[in-house]
Amino acid sequence: MTIPPGIDPQRIPRHVACVMDGNGRWAEQRGLKRTEGHAAGEDALFDTVEGALELGLEHFSVYAFSTENWKRPPDEVRYLMGFNEGILIRHTDELDSKGVRIRFVGRSNWRVPKRILHRIDEATEQTRHNTRMSFNVCFNYGGRAEIVDAVRALVAEGVRSDKVDEKAIRRHLYVPEIPDPDLVVRTSGEYRISNFLLWQIAYSELVFTDVLWPDFRRENLFAAVREYQERDRRFGGVA
Ligand code: IPE
Ligand code: IPE
Ligand code: MG
Repeated sequence: MTIPPGIDPQRIPRHVACVMDGNGRWAEQRGLKRTEGHAAGEDALFDTVEGALELGLEHFSVYAFSTENWKRPPDEVRYLMGFNEGILIRHTDELDSKGVRIRFVGRSNWRVPKRILHRIDEATEQTRHNTRMSFNVCFNYGGRAEIVDAVRALVAEGVRSDKVDEKAIRRHLYVPEIPDPDLVVRTSGEYRISNFLLWQIAYSELVFTDVLWPDFRRENLFAAVREYQERDRRFGGVA
């Protein structure tokens, strides 16, 4: 597959993570219900997944539902649960056939309906041997919750305080083998992180775009990668 123009194939990020934001505003601008904005986000998501495959990313992560999104009106929460389940039903076989591994990143023992957990387990199991790209769905995910859960696990194991270090915490993140994102993209013109991958983004490059998520397409991902390739990553060192 050919790399899109203007992108250096030698410096493709290993891991891109996306905050898919702006569905509600997209719908409101059209006089539609907020939930119709979520529905329109499905095409955006799978076009972007195609783009991620074209780029040859190892990991593509998306923020699908946050631990704070439970605050939304019950109808919207119910819609989002069913919608995310529907996405797995509609796309698992297609992703599987393309060599994509589906992973769930989030708190699984809290609030998520059993039926959806079961569906997530099936998709994860069906695709576990795929190696082309890992598609990481951050669902019922919160960065603070993840760190709290990691610390709880360390305490439960009886790890001595002088053995608690960055490696020990990392080992207890939800999916420790996922590398830190090189690039985080947030749509909809909001300049914040909203509790996404807090531990992992310590040195990620951040790209913000005004595009609302339902309008996002692979070209927007490519543009973000071009912007990423202009950056000088120093990790606290000197260039
Ligand atoms: C992102 O779109 C989807 C989720 C948070 C699940 P929003 O629903 O947050 O849309 P806006 O930000 O209200 O426009
Ligand atoms: C972040 O968007 C969560 C997801 C995209 C799933 P939000 O819309 O929930 O974030 P805030 O409320 O604008 O910070
Ligand atoms: Mg939002």
